[in-house]
Amino acid sequence: MTLFRHGVASADPLPDGVLLWTRCTVDGTAPVAVEWWVGRTPADVVTRGSTVASPDRDHTVQVDVTGLEPATTYAYGFSAGGEASPVGRARTAPAPDGPMDRLRIGLASCAHWSGGYFNAYANLAARDLDLVVHVGDYIYENDILGRSRRAVRALRPGGALVTLDDYRARYAQYRSDPDLQALHARHPVLAVWDDHELAGGAWRGGAAAHRPERHGEWEARRAAAVQAYFEWMPVRRPDHASVFRTVRLGPLADLVLLDTRLVGRDRPATDGHRPALTAGRTPRSLLGEDQWRWLAGEVTSSTARWLLVGNQVMMAPLRMLNGAGGVGVNPSQWDGYPTERRRLYDLLQGAGRATGVAVLSGDIHSSWAADLPVGAEFVSPSVTTDSFAKTLLPGIPGAAGFARLWFLAQNRHLRLADITHHGYVTLDVTGERIQGDWWHLGTVARRDRGERWGGGWQLREGRLGLVRAGAPAT
Ligand SMILES: [Fe+2]
Repeated sequence: MTLFRHGVASADPLPDGVLLWTRCTVDGTAPVAVEWWVGRTPADVVTRGSTVASPDRDHTVQVDVTGLEPATTYAYGFSAGGEASPVGRARTAPAPDGPMDRLRIGLASCAHWSGGYFNAYANLAARDLDLVVHVGDYIYENDILGRSRRAVRALRPGGALVTLDDYRARYAQYRSDPDLQALHARHPVLAVWDDHELAGGAWRGGAAAHRPERHGEWEARRAAAVQAYFEWMPVRRPDHASVFRTVRLGPLADLVLLDTRLVGRDRPATDGHRPALTAGRTPRSLLGEDQWRWLAGEVTSSTARWLLVGNQVMMAPLRMLNGAGGVGVNPSQWDGYPTERRRLYDLLQGAGRATGVAVLSGDIHSSWAADLPVGAEFVSPSVTTDSFAKTLLPGIPGAAGFARLWFLAQNRHLRLADITHHGYVTLDVTGERIQGDWWHLGTVARRDRGERWGGGWQLREGRLGLVRAGAPAT
């Protein structure tokens, strides 16, 4: 296999279609004619077609397949030059008037290549899921561990990404990973970017990690990162400059995916964890007016049982200790934008969503379950990026256990706190409840699929406040 060495992927399912992706690895810049097929099985093809892998998309291919049946699992694949791609599996969305059945959703974020192996992706790939939501930091633009002893594996090429070729090369390395390929081949992945797909601490006018004297113009770097993103990530590109969009999942759920990074975020109050509970006193925008208008329309028109909101940064308040021994918040989360957060709750409550909202987030490299005024939040730990404990409490043995208790005491709306583990979350959605389960890995230092259940909490229909759940039967 030389041509399709970056695997296959599906994304953004519709009741009658799904988006498919692959890439052709070729020498030179000649376009490549590519055939694609979709079938109940590889032997029972229901639709096929052809497209071209062209150098202006880095020889990536995206096909928006239509004419399929709702809530149906399909096989798919590509061929070119006498070679066949691996066979992927895709699942279409339920029909809007279909049965109020059941949805199983994976949730992941934050996968620094140098931090370790993608065991979380391997385990997600092995699970029986309808789709996986990835809330960002799918790649990292930095090479913070470099060649230090703490780097489990090396980025090639290393260094920070600045140019289009840089960003393309990093996606190519990520997609060489067999566990990430397995995830994409097995489940539709619904992705939005966070900051590190561009640069650490990104906001609409720059990034904390962007230094013009070293990295040049922000606009040029952002354009390069965004182009590589839409080439390499299977995303049905919306008709605007961002990734915010809605994926409708039948009568059970509408999934609204937000962009809290690039399109409307004002610069955070401070860069980093400064001792400020007042970080957000100055009204700052997080979504921007265009996204607000769109979101208000989506929320008002949504009639599904649950409204799932996929978003990058944690929405629930999180009081934390800062380096100076005081109490602060992280101003890059919704805590730094409290006026906007209040406005969002008002919007939801005003549109008849006083309950039944589940926010799915990541970015903070730790596991949290939180009660929200409109439902609950499920925060996924990192796939590999250094845990919150490692960043917060480097080298202090036993401190994470104490910190956990401190967080729960200081933040009474929290139901689950774990700042140590890598892993992911699964959400089991029925008409009666959403059960979130946290899955924590034994290690990311080698390929090892060992994991344990880190706890489960249920959001029940028409209710506020999470309820403790028993371990699921897996
Ligand atoms: Fe991250």
